[in-house]
Amino acid sequence: MKNEYECAVITGASSGIGEALAKRFASAGVKVALLSRRTDRIESRAKKIRDAGGQAIAIQCDVTDKNATHSAIEETRKQLDPIDLLIANAGFGQKISAEKIDLKKFEQTYKVNILGAIYSIAAVLPDMIEKRNGHIVGISSHASYRAYPKFMGYSGTKAALNRELEAMRNRLYKWDIDVTTICAGFIRTEMTEKADIPQPLRMELEPATERIYWAILKRRKFYSFPAIAAWYHRFAGIMPPALFDPIARRYDAMS
Ligand SMILES: NC(=O)c1ccc[n+]([C@@H]2O[C@H](COP(=O)([O-])OP(=O)(O)OC[C@H]3O[C@@H](n4cnc5c(N)ncnc54)[C@H](OP(=O)(O)O)[C@@H]3O)[C@@H](O)[C@H]2O)c1
Repeated sequence: MKNEYECAVITGASSGIGEALAKRFASAGVKVALLSRRTDRIESRAKKIRDAGGQAIAIQCDVTDKNATHSAIEETRKQLDPIDLLIANAGFGQKISAEKIDLKKFEQTYKVNILGAIYSIAAVLPDMIEKRNGHIVGISSHASYRAYPKFMGYSGTKAALNRELEAMRNRLYKWDIDVTTICAGFIRTEMTEKADIPQPLRMELEPATERIYWAILKRRKFYSFPAIAAWYHRFAGIMPPALFDPIARRYDAMS
């Protein structure tokens, strides 16, 4: 499939899905900007891409800082203009249970997964709108369909992200800007390696990256994978509490 992008900005590109997507797009000839807080890591990832013949820059950015995110996008534009793809990937998820709500973690989850995503999108949009060209991608999760009992915050932010992307999708088409929601099941990354919960049908990073890459190139509006987990979650999404709660409680007891 033909890759038509010139420059992709990827937030949370120091590890996991973001890092893998940066590599994948760079290998297809796209200029990539890797954004995250850990400068040493993004710099070494960008260097590896350049050593392999690709074009990449690393810009330190905490997406919870509105001004820093705006500046990082401006800097990218100066170096690699025009930005025609943004992958809002930076994410944070840790266990938070109702009986002992860790407010610091809860706030951080909302700041990174929702505000951070919106800050990065808001920073690229004016230019995309002016040029009537662009693609916004948000990395959501199967946790967006129903709440995982020990993942307060995470489930809520991913459900909110789906709604925000949907609102954008049905406005931005007027300026020829596409919006894609990637709704992923479990993928082996630093985040899931740390999460001490059952992870049925967990995928390895490389095949999962290929699927996300394909969905972006196809400009899918909503792509949920892997298929079996996606169908289960879709079905769970419409279950009444009488059906869903026993399943949620069994999962909770296992984690
Ligand atoms: N792995 C899965 O099973 C799975 C499933 C569905 C959805 N997702 C989503 O996929 C995305 C990537 O997660 P991952 O699994 O690849 O985990 P990961 O390896 O832990 O990557 C998370 C990335 O987010 C960045 N990040 C966190 N806080 C940030 C902040 N304040 N500012 C900028 N960057 C920040 C981290 O970089 P720094 O620490 O360097 O800032 C890191 O690069 C997340 O949105 C996650 O919710 C993952």
